[in-house]
Amino acid sequence: MSSNTEAWGSRIGLILAMAGNAVGLGNFLRFPVQAVQNGGGAFIIPYLICFLLMGIPLLWIEWSTGRFGGQRGDHSTPFIIQSMDPKRHFWKYLGVFGIFTNVAVAAYYCYIESWTLAWVYHSLIGTFSGMDQAGVAQFFTDYMVISQTTTGIPYENIVFYVICLALNTYILSRGLSGGIEIAAKVAMPLLILFGVFLAIQGVTLMAGEKGAVYDGTVGLNFLWEPQFDSLTNPSVWLAAAGQIFFTLSVGMGTIQCYASYIRKRRDVALNAMTAGWMNEFVEVVLGASILIPICVGYFGIDKVVELVNSGGGFGLAFQSLPYLFQNWGSLLATLAGISFFGLLFFAGITSSLAMGTPWMGFLQDEFGWKREHAAWSFGLLVFCLGMPTVLFFNYGVFGEYDYWAGTVSLVVFAMVESILFAWVFGIDRGWEELNRGAQMRVPHIYKFILKYVTPSMLLFVFIGSLFSPVGGEWAQAISDLFAGKGWAFDPGSLVGTISNDALKTQIAAAQTAGDMATVDNLQTRMMYINGARLLLLSTFIAITALVYIAYRKRLREGRNY
Ligand code: PHE
Repeated sequence: MSSNTEAWGSRIGLILAMAGNAVGLGNFLRFPVQAVQNGGGAFIIPYLICFLLMGIPLLWIEWSTGRFGGQRGDHSTPFIIQSMDPKRHFWKYLGVFGIFTNVAVAAYYCYIESWTLAWVYHSLIGTFSGMDQAGVAQFFTDYMVISQTTTGIPYENIVFYVICLALNTYILSRGLSGGIEIAAKVAMPLLILFGVFLAIQGVTLMAGEKGAVYDGTVGLNFLWEPQFDSLTNPSVWLAAAGQIFFTLSVGMGTIQCYASYIRKRRDVALNAMTAGWMNEFVEVVLGASILIPICVGYFGIDKVVELVNSGGGFGLAFQSLPYLFQNWGSLLATLAGISFFGLLFFAGITSSLAMGTPWMGFLQDEFGWKREHAAWSFGLLVFCLGMPTVLFFNYGVFGEYDYWAGTVSLVVFAMVESILFAWVFGIDRGWEELNRGAQMRVPHIYKFILKYVTPSMLLFVFIGSLFSPVGGEWAQAISDLFAGKGWAFDPGSLVGTISNDALKTQIAAAQTAGDMATVDNLQTRMMYINGARLLLLSTFIAITALVYIAYRKRLREGRNY
């Protein structure tokens, strides 16, 4: 039987922990990048619609199923979702997603988190002061290369990665009320404070002052001016849905785990809304007012779009900002550097802590592990799974983790749970679960949305990403299909990704050009990418095996599922 007697200490602690779980690197790095890549204001309408029709319903589903499972002593998704339909035995294996995703995302997420720690340190000791932009960019490149000593500390990226994991593990080993809640109570207010300070700097940036070329509001307008023509473009919808999942931490199994420690009659409806809207505030208000306005203020929109498309958000945040801040004078530059990377660190750690809890809950529930042991095993597991992303970052291993664990798995699992909740568990029972102890009136329309709209939208997103046609040109692809020309998958579709279409095209091109060095390089890259997939797959299988062992153990103990 479970030795797991964890509980939340207070309501405010629960809400801050849940908000901390949602508010993460995604709010400050991923959101602005997604918005820019998908046409600025063109992104915002699909984004908000996805929030209302998938995000909110999934929050409610996950909070209610989590609390439901917790009553039966289950704190991770395999047995939480199994308990919703005890007769069919396969649910627990689908529930593996809710442990796997957390462990795999933590592996690369903690690596970025460790950069933020390093960048706080370097802002503090003044490493960036006096560096030109090329210098800061080079610093980042060097940091990624093992055994580079030019950044100051030998093996610096590994050192910070280990410090970051140790910190996570230590806090996790202190438990929910003694560790996670305290971390959230410290981190969240500081994060808001730093965020507001930087957002004010970003929005009030004036052309001609502090070396800026454009007003900060130019970037803000670019993000916020709605453009309706994007509404018919499925790729923008896919990106918007993906961002909503990632930022709210839904489809991961993390929320269910946190919610499983809530008592039966305590509210979930209002708490879920509070944490969810807090996340949206931080994302669309603070997340949109820092990185892009400041970078656009100095570089202009075109250059920012170009930088984002070539280097993602990391380039802007880690390679440009420390340099741009220096235009503000040395005191303000240091303060801004510490605030920005400190804010990222706080956002990151309250999320990575959440990712540790499903694995820990599983070991505590099923195998009677002590909390401390469960926490350290998480740290070790993440270290092993994360080292390939640290060592082979430049070979695309990191991106592979983000794609499979941080994107595809979320959609698959969200789809599974929304169908389970509305159609198998049953919408009436589900509605009752959600409303028990509710301190708000859940609008009745959501019964309809939960039953029909959310599952269909999820199916749509899933099928969309599976079969996305070349260039995202759906209308063209469908008419080609009917004309008997077959279906050309986009290299970025799930099918195209599995078969490494984009890489193969590049290799073929390099071969034609006789550029053997590039061919070699790309082939090595492909090897690492396939290796990363194999590793992720093995992890998934290993967790499935553990769930099976737990199940046999439960049978021996006379429990029925
Ligand atoms: N929501 C977090 C972010 O925006 C990421 C996260 C995903 C955290 C899943 C926990 C679980 O960065």
